[in-house]
Amino acid sequence: MKADALVLFGATGDLAKKKLFPALYDLEDLGELDLHIVGVASSKWTQEVFKENVEQAVRARKPDVDEAALSKLLGEIELIVGDYEDPQTFVALAEAIKDFKLPVIYLAIAPEYFARITEALALVGITRRARVVVEKPFGRDLESAKALDAELKKILPEEQIYRIDHYLGKEAVEDLLVFRFANTLFEPVWNRNYVSNIQITMAESFGIDGRGKFYDGVGATRDVLQNHILQVLTMLTMEPPIDMGSEAMQNEKIKVLSAIRDINKNDVVRGQFDGYLDEAGVAENSDTETFVAMKLFIDNWRWAGVPIYLRTGKKLAETVLEVIVEFKQPPRALFGSGASNQVRFRLGAKDGVDISLQAKKPGTKLVTETVDLSVEFVAEFGDRQGPYERLLRAAMLGDHFRFTRIDAVLHSWQILEDLLKNPNAVESYEPGTWGPESAQLLVPGGWAPVGSEAEQLKDLHQ
Ligand code: BG6
Repeated sequence: MKADALVLFGATGDLAKKKLFPALYDLEDLGELDLHIVGVASSKWTQEVFKENVEQAVRARKPDVDEAALSKLLGEIELIVGDYEDPQTFVALAEAIKDFKLPVIYLAIAPEYFARITEALALVGITRRARVVVEKPFGRDLESAKALDAELKKILPEEQIYRIDHYLGKEAVEDLLVFRFANTLFEPVWNRNYVSNIQITMAESFGIDGRGKFYDGVGATRDVLQNHILQVLTMLTMEPPIDMGSEAMQNEKIKVLSAIRDINKNDVVRGQFDGYLDEAGVAENSDTETFVAMKLFIDNWRWAGVPIYLRTGKKLAETVLEVIVEFKQPPRALFGSGASNQVRFRLGAKDGVDISLQAKKPGTKLVTETVDLSVEFVAEFGDRQGPYERLLRAAMLGDHFRFTRIDAVLHSWQILEDLLKNPNAVESYEPGTWGPESAQLLVPGGWAPVGSEAEQLKDLHQ
């Protein structure tokens, strides 16, 4: 059943401004919104100031805004100002949505409030009929994730909880499944017999952008590796689900996550960019990592022995979200070259796929040269939908497919448990580089080129 109201906790916050209101506008523009929106926030804004801010947030991200859709959206929103600790806030909220049958409650706030707010919502009778969307991170380790789950489950069954990982809303990430399971060309070689290694890079050239207080208590492993990067990894390595239903999908994810071998601490590099300690909100002598790289193995029939490398960090050389799947060399190097095939998935800006092949170099000799088969999806199909638009739509429709199930969340914390409890010392790195020196050495022969370096090589091949 489709929701008829959306309650947004954290309505004056950064996520609402940058992602949620622009996404709601997109849904409005498509004629799919059709619900009442109640923002809840502790900032003492008037209705006018709230609407002005929403308008600005939309205009800033949608230069060609459709005025009619925007004014319809502004006509559908209201703000309740109140402290999250004050029962009156929830009484006012219950009153505001009393005529709506199925509200979606979106908690775009710090995770420490999730349980308390859910309890307060239950006291005024809202949770009985609501879907509750919680932002990441869900907990900060295995124990706290279990505790948070237990708190929420006192009130809400799993079917009413929607855990966000916005990478699951990215079309490019979903395309990994389509690439693998809709093309019989690749699936037969997607295993230990042909793949030599996999490399996942989620690099950001920017820093912590005023989020010091939040980030310092979290770090790169909890902020993005436990969720976004492990999701990308599962999509790349899971077995085909029996159908595209949410449960079948989650079941396969669990299987591959549970096959990840305990990570060897010698295969992990934690880094911190020079200057991090001077950022506002960061503790003196903080050893929070702004970079993490690791090697891991999936001990199952398909992937046994294939090293998988992950890296992510802030203030790196450029912003890149890419996966490289490197194939083994042919059994005999008949043409001299040491180059092999590679599939490069570009999951961030200009998403697409590049498949590098070896071709005969012109001339008398039988030697090879690398050429690329490339596709850029936006050029082929037009604009992608944004992840938050897709996730909000799914929550409104009650579809769990693009949300994380609790067992998968707990498994992903389990994988990192030892690394979080006994972290390696952080190594410093210069902003604008690819992280600490030792991270370069994790991959024998070095990380495959990604981002602009890979694009330059592609140009050379053409
Ligand atoms: C968020 C993290 O979940 O994802 C941020 O908290 C990170 O630190 C962001 O920058 C990256 O998202 P995207 O969609 O820009 O790759």
